[in-house]
Amino acid sequence: TISSLLHSPLSDERANETVTVAGWVRSVRRMKNVSFAHVSDGSTIHPLQAVLTKEQSENLSMGTSVKITGEWKESVGGKGQQSKELLAEKVEVLGKADPLTYPLQKKYQTPEFLRTLLHLRQRIPANTNLLHLRSNIISTLTAFFVEHSFIQCHTPIITSSDCEGAGEVFAIVPEKFFNTPKYLTVSGQLHLEALAAAVPRVWTLSPSFRAEKSGTTRHLSEFYMLEVEAAFIDTLDPLVALIEDMVKTIVRSISTSRVGKETLSTAGEDKAVQLEERWKGLLERPWSRITYTEAISRLGLAAEQKEVQFDIPAVWGAALQAEHERFLAQTVFNGPVFVTDYPKSLKPFYMLPSVSTVPTPGEGETVACFDLLVPAVGELIGGSLREYRYDELLTEMRRHGIAVGDGGEDEGSLRWYLELRKWGSTRHGGFGLGLDRLVCYLAGVENIREATAFPRWVGRCDC
Ligand code: 4AD
Ligand code: MG
Repeated sequence: TISSLLHSPLSDERANETVTVAGWVRSVRRMKNVSFAHVSDGSTIHPLQAVLTKEQSENLSMGTSVKITGEWKESVGGKGQQSKELLAEKVEVLGKADPLTYPLQKKYQTPEFLRTLLHLRQRIPANTNLLHLRSNIISTLTAFFVEHSFIQCHTPIITSSDCEGAGEVFAIVPEKFFNTPKYLTVSGQLHLEALAAAVPRVWTLSPSFRAEKSGTTRHLSEFYMLEVEAAFIDTLDPLVALIEDMVKTIVRSISTSRVGKETLSTAGEDKAVQLEERWKGLLERPWSRITYTEAISRLGLAAEQKEVQFDIPAVWGAALQAEHERFLAQTVFNGPVFVTDYPKSLKPFYMLPSVSTVPTPGEGETVACFDLLVPAVGELIGGSLREYRYDELLTEMRRHGIAVGDGGEDEGSLRWYLELRKWGSTRHGGFGLGLDRLVCYLAGVENIREATAFPRWVGRCDC
């Protein structure tokens, strides 16, 4: 690959060797007697410089796929970023790219415009880099979970239920195929809980689908969720500790590897400084943790003292707004913060009540859950302990109008989920992390539509 040629020590070892590279032309400079072509094969954001005769460069233009054989030489004239260049002997055009119609340009093109070219934009260095970064994160996660004795599982995509109960499910057509309505999963959690009742430490990285109509910079209709479930845990502490360790391990891997360097160099100078600070901050500081109730007081105080002005006031019992989350993570904690023990009324049916539910006057019950909020992105992770007691879960399921199969309507019900509490139930809990949001956070990407190659959001699924 070009990366193995460009990045020393291989670069030096192979000096004066004859090598063959295949890739796409990024640019061609034609001088009087000689031409220079920058060729990229996506293995690194940096192109290789090939030195060609005028004739050899004739059919080359941005986007052309080529195979070039030549000598890997010390670069004469010292032009370009690399100390070596490829002195072409044989140039084979594999696929032409008509310069009059090729939509990618050497000049700056806006993210909005590039989103109309999802099939091509991965050829741009910043987008190429995001593919590498995402892949690096997944490798690190895989190794991390192996090390911590979690096994990777696959949860189904087609499901009978709406795990989060938010009514944002995509229904599958034709309905008749499975006899009862089926949906694309919003979360693999319920199935992962069943697996954690056999193997106590499981994880999955699966597509999740949400028919959310909000076309924000952090919502996709299809995204990848990392989910973890652990049995035999009594508090949120082990989950919170695991998450901090997991994200720090990812950041350490990025910041010490070439993908990290290339992330910084595609971010642009100003942003690179901020991004490096972000990585450092993540590693150096212990992460903060507060309860929802404390967060509401803190937000109330900040508004009262005119430290900040919110569009919607933060009141106990109401969901934290994006502006509240941003203020907490960015201004108050300037880094990740776990907000725990939200009001029960705001959360899905499966959460276990908080350990000490002693509501202060004016407050209601809370559940043993957390959201991890981070600057710029907001909510990155949501997790909880699960209701593991049969009677209590049944009550909650009924209260939420979830079919439990006791009225003859067995099909499509969550009876199986309830039954897990009947035979060998254990205390357990887990969490879900939005992988695309993590990519945004670690790469300093502002819009989640850039964090994944083929984003889908309300009204848009073009490619
Ligand atoms: O907070 P959520 O909805 O939690 C669950 O689904 C749990 N069942 C997970 C679990 O405990 N196993 O989603 C988890 C995370 C969010 O914090 C967010 O990062 C991401 O998934 N997420 C989205 N990412 C992109 N686009 C969307 N529409 C998302 N919705 C959630
Ligand atoms: Mg959530």
